[in-house]
Amino acid sequence: MDSGRTAVVTGASSGIGEVYARRLAAEGYDLILVARRKDRLENLADGLKAACGVKTEILAADLTQEPDLCKVEERIAAAADLEFLVNNAGFGTRGLFFQAPVEEQDRMHRLHVLATVRLSHAALSRMVSRGKGSLVNVSSVAGFAQSPGNASYCATKAWMNSFTEGLYLDLAAAGSPVKVQALCPGYTITEFHDVSGIGREHVPARWWMSAEGVVDASLRGLERGNLFVVPGWRYKFYVILLEVAPGCIVRPLALRIRGKYGR
Ligand SMILES: NC(=O)c1ccc[n+]([C@@H]2O[C@H](COP(=O)([O-])OP(=O)(O)OC[C@H]3O[C@@H](n4cnc5c(N)ncnc54)[C@H](OP(=O)(O)O)[C@@H]3O)[C@@H](O)[C@H]2O)c1
Repeated sequence: MDSGRTAVVTGASSGIGEVYARRLAAEGYDLILVARRKDRLENLADGLKAACGVKTEILAADLTQEPDLCKVEERIAAAADLEFLVNNAGFGTRGLFFQAPVEEQDRMHRLHVLATVRLSHAALSRMVSRGKGSLVNVSSVAGFAQSPGNASYCATKAWMNSFTEGLYLDLAAAGSPVKVQALCPGYTITEFHDVSGIGREHVPARWWMSAEGVVDASLRGLERGNLFVVPGWRYKFYVILLEVAPGCIVRPLALRIRGKYGR
């Protein structure tokens, strides 16, 4: 490896991360695929190597664990031809903050926040000195407002939005052409809701997006240099409403929605 252009995708074993891996392989990127489920990564890596003729490497890692995070961080720092990083690995939880296990909340902050900091730093040091590259942080529309039962999820995704905006400004201040994006999807059909045990039945069909549609919107947004990408017109409209509506309207509405649909 390290002779062409390399992309690193975290959470590549399913859903949005797997689609990034497929799209980037089709564009000719060599891949470093990261997640915990090694068998899934191996199948994907073998398939993409055969179908697209790219080099693939897998790193089985739990990014909430320091030794595993160090391993991925060091691999990124050593990738001389690194041109793309997708910080995508993530998960949701059920239950009110003080009723849910604190270990789960701790793992979420480690994954969404600390792993994003460490891997972004390793990647951007490399990309800025090369004068090219793209970094996508997979956030969520949940980053634009809080909702009951989602305190850590909304907070970590809001952090991701703010952090990515900060990186954008740092890169602009340095005159670097390296691109950053916060991808903010709404409900997307992946394993996310199965893993977290959150039902899908309360969400009307028209609000669901495909992982392919979400990733394609992200890649189009990168070409245009868009910092925030919210796929789908319904969610674009929703985010605009959240930005203009005062908290004294948004918060009671969030409580009413939870009261109606529960979780
Ligand atoms: N689906 C939605 O409705 C939705 C909406 C907005 C934002 N998002 C965001 O999109 C991102 C991808 O989620 P998805 O919808 O594609 O869900 P998914 O199908 O469940 O994929 C999540 C990925 O993250 C990996 N992952 C989870 N914990 C990990 C850990 N500790 N270490 C390393 N990898 C880990 C999983 O792999 P392993 O289990 O093999 O480790 C899997 O590959 C997440 O950041 C999520 O917050 C999803």
